[in-house]
Amino acid sequence: MKLKSFFHLAGFGIKTILFKKKDPILGTIIVTDKCNLHCKHCSVNNITAIIHPYEQIKKEMKELYDMGIRILFFCGGETFLWHDKDKTLRDLVIEAKEMGFLIVNVVTNGTHRIDLKEADLILLSLDGDKEHHNIIRGDTYDTIMNNIENATSDNICFYMAINQINKDCIKDVCQKAKDTKNVRAVSFNFHTPYPDTKDLALSKEEKKKCTDDIIEMMKKGAPIFNLKSAFPYLVENKFPTPCHQCVVLENGKLSTCGRCIEIPGLCNECGYFFVAEYTLLFKGNLKIIFEMLRTYLKYI
Ligand SMILES: C[S@@+](CC[C@H](N)C(=O)[O-])C[C@H]1O[C@@H](n2cnc3c(N)ncnc32)[C@H](O)[C@@H]1O
Ligand code: SF4
Ligand code: SF4
Repeated sequence: MKLKSFFHLAGFGIKTILFKKKDPILGTIIVTDKCNLHCKHCSVNNITAIIHPYEQIKKEMKELYDMGIRILFFCGGETFLWHDKDKTLRDLVIEAKEMGFLIVNVVTNGTHRIDLKEADLILLSLDGDKEHHNIIRGDTYDTIMNNIENATSDNICFYMAINQINKDCIKDVCQKAKDTKNVRAVSFNFHTPYPDTKDLALSKEEKKKCTDDIIEMMKKGAPIFNLKSAFPYLVENKFPTPCHQCVVLENGKLSTCGRCIEIPGLCNECGYFFVAEYTLLFKGNLKIIFEMLRTYLKYI
């Protein structure tokens, strides 16, 4: 991370904690909900299947920037499906950087060619070893591994949503992150049980076992882009929700924290690690602050 970015984000954090402010710093733009996959755990693909036009996305980027947001995520649907005439996702990332966003990340299912060195991180969903990943995501594992091998930069971070199907695959994914060229780390979430995927939710005991596995792999030197101090809060679902420092923009609609905020009761069962990490950070949790500094400076 550049020094300028570090000081801006540190200044934002200090002001937020001291003055209990609720201004956002992290924004996500959903560029399309169209997707080439239909993963078993996902409730947000192909609802409209509209690819939003370039001018609209650019306006949304400007809107977020003017709100003070400096960490930007592009997400989908499948983010790499986005295009408008000759413009591609890469053009959006480059424009976001030029606009002044300090960190620009992309989330992808990894089934498309990866040529995106301008992104700070490419969060690439890998949901287990080959067998379990393919049960969840269709027969995509080999294609993804081939795309990673041929990626033009080493800014990939695995992104695993842990659920009933793949809860025993954590160590495999950690090892794969450690061993795979172009992969910098792995970041986890627990399944967030939308009404149509409740059967994939983990119990408290299962979540505890998962965090034990992650801690074991951290001790063995696996590159894990999560904060250990947030784990007990995630296991118990005892972190504050929603995250006021995060917003999502989809087709002109702005939501605090996530699109899921509209689903009654879902925040009480939230599995997104970033929500626990950010809300605890901005409440001034000292352990989280130090761990976040260490972790972010290592991987971004
Ligand atoms: C909605 S996808 C969009 C980007 C891209 N298509 C992908 O799969 O990475 C973003 C991330 O959300 C995760 N996800 C989807 N549904 C989830 C849920 N109910 N709980 C937790 N994570 C979920 C996916 O596994 C993926 O890592
Ligand atoms: S690839 Fe991403 S958006 Fe598509 S179905 Fe899977 S999780 Fe959902
Ligand atoms: S806290 Fe609520 S709105 Fe935020 S990600 Fe979790 S479920 Fe979605």
